Amino acid sequence: MSNLVSIRDFEEHAYKTLPRNALDYYRSGAGQQTTLKHNRQAFSKYRLRPRCLRNVENRDLSTTILGERITMPIGISPTAMQKMAHPEGECANARAAQAMGTIFTLSTLSTSSIEEVAQAAPRAVKWFQLYIYKDRELTRQLVERAERAGFKALVLTVDAPLFGLRLADIKNRFILPPHLCLANFEGTKSKGMSKKTDSSGLNVYVNSLFDSTVEWKDIAWLKSITSLPIVLKGILTAEDAVLGVQNGASAILVSNHGARQVDGTPASIEALPEIARAVGDRAEVYLDGGITDGTEVLKALAMGAKMVFMGRPALWGLVQGGEDGVKKVLTIIRTEFETALGICGCCRLSDIEPTMVVHESFYAK
Ligand code: FNR
Repeated sequence: MSNLVSIRDFEEHAYKTLPRNALDYYRSGAGQQTTLKHNRQAFSKYRLRPRCLRNVENRDLSTTILGERITMPIGISPTAMQKMAHPEGECANARAAQAMGTIFTLSTLSTSSIEEVAQAAPRAVKWFQLYIYKDRELTRQLVERAERAGFKALVLTVDAPLFGLRLADIKNRFILPPHLCLANFEGTKSKGMSKKTDSSGLNVYVNSLFDSTVEWKDIAWLKSITSLPIVLKGILTAEDAVLGVQNGASAILVSNHGARQVDGTPASIEALPEIARAVGDRAEVYLDGGITDGTEVLKALAMGAKMVFMGRPALWGLVQGGEDGVKKVLTIIRTEFETALGICGCCRLSDIEPTMVVHESFYAK
């Protein structure tokens, strides 16, 4: 692992290692994948404006997120079915987050259950990502289990009323390998995907079981069955961010689902400023999508995010060495971020100023 010094290195390694079915599932975006490329490229359209001679000897990356102290503003986004990357899947990923002192978000569609992850990483700050099933009783049980197991927030994914069309998965007729299952649904009919499909088995699963009638008023229902704070994940407009705040969300996660839902949306970093402006200090604002380098974390924070999350990079870490691989990925990005922060003249996250990042057009004037 010592020759892997960047997240891109981990990604390249995973591309050479993973079976095709899993690799395509993990790496793909929706449709023509323009937004997938854009999620990454858009960061390079923003430039850092470092400030000098500011004594940056004592640096501190820690922050408080929804009342929990964490060591750095970089956490792990929910990604489904992590045992395709490593036999210990979500448990290894959560242990890495615990060791690094940051947030791990467990997907509803995980291959390790809520209880297994809680047991594997009891001290990690864990959030549970929720999809609302047509079966509301089943949904309520998921929420109750997460709360009972000590998860600290519910991350309601709001960008998936239908599932995006990921062409490689359709070609591969993607299904979960038979030795794995959707562990939160053990013993129910929602635990696996039908093999008899000429499409992506995941899309067939989702479109038959997830509730596409969900509306803003359902946030009130969710709030009535939980006392956990609610993070709305998948917001790309100021209008929806404001509705989110009005409906009682504690935080907005600016995200295009890793470009996996509908091609043609803005990169998350492009959507961030309008949302941060609209929300102000009424809720916390986070971002995920395309982060592969610590300088991008600095850009996102200067542009209004309190914290960022990563999906695929943690999967690439898992492929390389389970918990150790994810720890290495998190350590690399932490070091890159800390270095960028110091060189730009900041010791603490509160030193980051909006004027430290500009769009490239600033230099064309
Ligand atoms: C995801 N994402 C996701 N989101 C979610 O709310 N529930 C889920 O189960 C999943 N599953 C999932 C699987 C895979 C393989 C990927 C790549 C992504 C989206 C995820 O939480 C996050 O928004 C993106 O991954 C962020 O983009 P990056 O960091 O992967 O570029």
